[in-house]
Amino acid sequence: MTNIKVEVHHILRTLTEIVSPSMNQREIFLRHVAQTSPSPLGLEIVKAEGALLFDANGKEFIDLIGGISVANTGHRHPKVIEAIKQQLEAYLHIMVYGEFIETPQLQYAKLLTDHLPASLNSVYFTNSGAEAVEGAMKLAKRVTNRTEIIAFNKSYHGSTQGALSVIGDEYWRNAFRPLLPGVLHLEYNSFESLGEITEQAACVIAETAQGEAGIIAPSKEWMQALRKKCDETGVLLILDEIQTGFGRTGKLWGFEHFDIVPDILLLGKALGGGMPLGAFIAGKKLMWQLTEDPVLGHITTFGGHPVCCAAGMAAMQALLDEGMMNEVKKKEELFRALLVHPPVGGHSPKIKSIRSFGLWMAVEFENFETNKKVIDHCIENGVLVDWFLFAPGCLRISPPLTISEEQIKQAVKTIMQACDKM
Ligand SMILES: Cc1ncc(COP(=O)(O)O)c(C=O)c1O
Repeated sequence: MTNIKVEVHHILRTLTEIVSPSMNQREIFLRHVAQTSPSPLGLEIVKAEGALLFDANGKEFIDLIGGISVANTGHRHPKVIEAIKQQLEAYLHIMVYGEFIETPQLQYAKLLTDHLPASLNSVYFTNSGAEAVEGAMKLAKRVTNRTEIIAFNKSYHGSTQGALSVIGDEYWRNAFRPLLPGVLHLEYNSFESLGEITEQAACVIAETAQGEAGIIAPSKEWMQALRKKCDETGVLLILDEIQTGFGRTGKLWGFEHFDIVPDILLLGKALGGGMPLGAFIAGKKLMWQLTEDPVLGHITTFGGHPVCCAAGMAAMQALLDEGMMNEVKKKEELFRALLVHPPVGGHSPKIKSIRSFGLWMAVEFENFETNKKVIDHCIENGVLVDWFLFAPGCLRISPPLTISEEQIKQAVKTIMQACDKM
């Protein structure tokens, strides 16, 4: 009896796989691709273009999350695709980072530094954001000869052990102890906290505005006081712009809003135009410390991959040439104007508040359960949204900067329908 059951099950499975190949894909995904959560979104996207994603059934989604602040210049920007094609004709990986003169790397480093303050003139390309965090913290320890690292509560800096040590949430850190010793977590945007920054510290690492906390932009006065305190104590200021950089906030770099300059700048996500690329950027004199005693102070095989640099450079050129940043404020305001629930005069507001910093916003609902219902409704109805790690009651909006006003209106209409249903 059991054998017959097994056989019938096997036949049914085989039939299902023949009839519905996408079911098969899902099974393989769940079985053989390592899972990061028990409930992945699991959408099977077969094509992406601009601010749109298309799934295996031909369903269209307006992408309000942009791969978590990656697709700033839109999915598959034509100039990025062209640059990748051209680089494919020349070479892929040819040598570990830092040995050969690779045109895409040096051209991109030049373009980046041409658009940065003079003190940030040396670019170390990495594979990811977390690796940029690692490199920067090592550099700070090496330069200052100090060991303490100061970070902030509710900050997110990545998932490798060093980056995990500085993220500001014990739930995510705790299971992986021991982590880096000598890490001090302070309250973000608090003047009182600044008193704890002393000559013991090698660096302060801070997001220019906190993302996973649900878009918390600090006051200009606090940022300037943080910079001043670091100067007074000889502590290096590392600004993590892995999400705030590359035009997301309406300026090329988030720190421009605060009239300060970090000692080390961290970039990632949109930096590669859709390809994997990160960077830590500092002054040449500082960066030199990774070159000697010991030599090869930070090394990477694939960091600054030529195809990624070519793609990233094309994306940055498009960002600059096509005026994408000029539209950010207007689009942010359009979102804010439309995201009012209930419409003026109504009762029981479903949307409690909105925090935004450019095209990067957190729409706050009562709790995670309400937010999850909104997210599910949106995805069901062709709008891709998400929540935040440390602000589960907030809906994440970080679309490609190229999203059209029509797409914004259509997407917000779907969010409003979700609110109406509750
Ligand atoms: C602010 C910030 N820093 C660092 C990282 C880590 O980047 P990656 O996932 O490329 O390692 C992230 C990723 O979400 C981030 O948002």
